[in-house]
Amino acid sequence: MTALTVNNQPIRYALDPETPLLWALRDASNLTGTKYGCGTGDCGACTVDIDGRAVRSCQVTIGQVEGSFVTTIEALSRDRSHPVQQAWVAEGVVQCGFCQPGMIMAVAVLLKNNPRPSDADIDAAITNICRCGTYNRVRRAIHHAAA
Ligand code: FES
Repeated sequence: MTALTVNNQPIRYALDPETPLLWALRDASNLTGTKYGCGTGDCGACTVDIDGRAVRSCQVTIGQVEGSFVTTIEALSRDRSHPVQQAWVAEGVVQCGFCQPGMIMAVAVLLKNNPRPSDADIDAAITNICRCGTYNRVRRAIHHAAA
């Protein structure tokens, strides 16, 4: 058993500790907002918040993050849209949308740690890949959320 707290719920996974967190979230917890894009740590579609850090969940095993607090896109906001999600809507960021949960999680962590990021800060922190090329709108939405 591997114990984690996921979206404020204690969870014990009866899975091999070598299971990537991404697959525990998607297959065992049915938290399918966290996406599988590449599986190699490059795209960021699988980004979740682990203890306040943006982490690519395909790259960590549940054993490595045992005892951690994990937040997925499903729990980013309890009652209404998170300010980042509101900015995403206001700026019309989404095209196909597949990468956006991971993108939004990465941005939410960035803004928690750096409420007024510069363009250079954004470029350094947000390395998620969007095949639709929404990068300009993502940047506008980050500044919108930070305003
Ligand atoms: Fe994890 Fe692409 S699926 S980085």
